[in-house]
Amino acid sequence: MTSTTRAFRNWVTQKSKSNPYLAGDFKPEEYLRTYYPALPESSVFGDVKTPKSVSEENLALLRFYAKTEKELQPAKEELWMLEVGGGPTIYQLVSLSKLVKHIRFTDFLRANLQSVENWIRTGSDKRWLSYIRAALQYERGRLPTNEEIIRREQQLKQKISLARYDVLRDRFFAPAPKKYALVSSNFCIECISQSKAVWFHALSNISKKIAGGGCLVMTALRMASTYNIQGRILPATPIDEEDVLNALLDLGFSNIEISSQDCLGENEYSGMIYVLAKKDS
Ligand SMILES: C[S@@+](CC[C@H](N)C(=O)[O-])C[C@H]1O[C@@H](n2cnc3c(N)ncnc32)[C@H](O)[C@@H]1O
Repeated sequence: MTSTTRAFRNWVTQKSKSNPYLAGDFKPEEYLRTYYPALPESSVFGDVKTPKSVSEENLALLRFYAKTEKELQPAKEELWMLEVGGGPTIYQLVSLSKLVKHIRFTDFLRANLQSVENWIRTGSDKRWLSYIRAALQYERGRLPTNEEIIRREQQLKQKISLARYDVLRDRFFAPAPKKYALVSSNFCIECISQSKAVWFHALSNISKKIAGGGCLVMTALRMASTYNIQGRILPATPIDEEDVLNALLDLGFSNIEISSQDCLGENEYSGMIYVLAKKDS
């Protein structure tokens, strides 16, 4: 047994009773209110170098996905994408969804999957429309029309299927393809525990889901040991760009692009890390 596996097993055994996600500390509505307020409608978005609010951070994320989607083109339309630990959010899929035909959207918590299912089944949601508008604006360099926004919303809804998945145990709770051409995971694996061994274990499980020659798109909090949802403190693993690079090299990735951005908001992280990496064939 490797030291990473041992550390992971110890963590699971000791912490299963105090897992904040099992304890109900993550409430989808509160999380969305804290980190994903509706974005202001703006004719021109400033290219903010150092975000000072969550909305500026979210615009920076949408810029990253729009740029990444362009970089990964052309993709074959039949591809499957896996979203790991998607939470109650869909902002991360607006641009990347153009690359694939199906998105297996997963999370550990049923409540998060329910939140996404509600969005798929019900009419347009003001919050997510504002994110779709901004994403299209970054993709196209101009304000999108209402028809374009609604069309992307509909296309995205049609591509998503939902499943519970535990990235620590690498366990799907529903049938799912074994490998994916594109795997995306955002602020998930560093937000499970404070252990770097557990973080690496989760990253290696994600890596196993990527087909040879496939890609990983990942965003992460930089150097956070906690994050906060309306006064409730949840754990985070302090990682930096070097940790991510070393882990990806160990796991057999090549063409690794890692960038980051300082964040000056009130939250506990010093910045955000952006990753695009190709799995060796
Ligand atoms: C900080 S939230 C990130 C949510 C979303 N991806 C985002 O970009 O805002 C962390 C997410 O990790 C999920 N999570 C926690 N433990 C997990 C596990 N063992 N397997 C899969 N997801 C898990 C949580 O339910 C939560 O949705």
